[in-house]
Amino acid sequence: MKKTKPPAPPGDIRTATSIFPKGAVDAGRRRALLAGLGAAGGVAAAGLITPTRALADPANLPPNVADWSRVLGPGVDAVPYGTPSKFEKTVVRRHVEWLTATPESSVNFTPLYALDGFVTPNGLCFERHHGGAAEVIPDDYRLMIHGMVERPLVFTYQDLRRFPPQSRFFFLECAANGGMEWRGAQLNGVQFTHGMVHCVQYTGVPLRTLLEEAGVKPKAKWLLVEGGDSAGMNRSLPLDKALDDCMVVYSMNGERLRVEQGYPIRLVVPGFEGNMWVKWLRRIEVGDGAWMAREETSKYTDLMPDGRARRFTWEMDAKSVITSPCPELPCRQKGPQVIKGIAWSGRGKIARVDITVDGGRNWHQARLEEPILPKCLTRFYLDGWEWNGDTAYLQSRAIDDTGYVQPEMAALQAVRGVNSIYHNNAIQTWRINPTGEVENVRLA
Ligand code: MTE
Ligand code: CO
Repeated sequence: MKKTKPPAPPGDIRTATSIFPKGAVDAGRRRALLAGLGAAGGVAAAGLITPTRALADPANLPPNVADWSRVLGPGVDAVPYGTPSKFEKTVVRRHVEWLTATPESSVNFTPLYALDGFVTPNGLCFERHHGGAAEVIPDDYRLMIHGMVERPLVFTYQDLRRFPPQSRFFFLECAANGGMEWRGAQLNGVQFTHGMVHCVQYTGVPLRTLLEEAGVKPKAKWLLVEGGDSAGMNRSLPLDKALDDCMVVYSMNGERLRVEQGYPIRLVVPGFEGNMWVKWLRRIEVGDGAWMAREETSKYTDLMPDGRARRFTWEMDAKSVITSPCPELPCRQKGPQVIKGIAWSGRGKIARVDITVDGGRNWHQARLEEPILPKCLTRFYLDGWEWNGDTAYLQSRAIDDTGYVQPEMAALQAVRGVNSIYHNNAIQTWRINPTGEVENVRLA
């Protein structure tokens, strides 16, 4: 236990709006399912410090023979493509209605509170589309490489699958993740404050291999990468990065890409903002300058206090968040708790994560779980924190292997002002109330 700060909280604390449907998560949900009470009531009304065994049907508990042990279960192929248990039906991607005008140009969020380990299941990867998800017919799919190359090429889907493959885990974070939280605590749920991130094992071809096939001319410095969706989303990508670790992929977590994630082919740009990971990739043009496309001039730039804009802010800075407890997972019992979370950095590996339970007065080093991979989510834990029922202020702080330390919002605002939307990697505070409820707050 190292003293790093003078006594901090409470001070000026601002809380957030609750946006998840009542009864949608955890305590409220279980009660509704098991006791047939209907979904109303939500977390707040429930009196949270209730042991979960009080919700169970005694007929199913030892020494009785449970319902599911008395009957033959469904046979094989009852569900040809497996789905989660019906008791997990609330674990879904969710969107925020008031955030965007249409669902085609919108975003939904990964339910981070419900996930373990560091891999995101394919069906729960958040979606961000600018013109809806394109339904590409694989036989009609083509990828064109042209511009400053010796041999312009057009690849079919099967052509791309013939190259020697590689598989790598990477996180993808939208630059706008946490964008609503710049001016204060807004959304009461880790799914909504941090859920524009996912982490997947990709399989495909190094982009370098394809560029070598085409023969990049010596004066080339940039690529334009373009999607085949109705938005035709395009971005300029520096050639150095393209030759370093970018991939043209066809699989995620062992199966073919999901339509929402760019089926049949997407670009993977490890550590860089999600916007550059072009889905339904149709064209790569090689050139000697940036294209100054809409998504790198009008969008994905941040207005600084002096009126200038930060541009080409590609790398995602180190960041972390506690995923349990969190607003969706309140503390149900006093006593020992395992604090769980995820950390990531677009610059490399996570070197350390610190956790405080008193708003930054004392910090404790978290246990990092192997494997710790570069540009990938890293799972961390603080085992056995004793919660005595008092108000507590939980935060996590990531440090990456470049020595970069995740900042507090005040430090971020001192440099960036409050006009930013993108690249908010500030430390998140969850307040645990004496009822066990958890709220998104900002410590000033
Ligand atoms: N590619 C195309 N063609 N069209 C898009 O709208 N959205 C981008 C990027 N690639 C987008 C795209 C943005 S802003 C992000 S954050 C990521 O895709 C989201 O990837 P995901 O939907 O797999 O989570
Ligand atoms: Co994005």
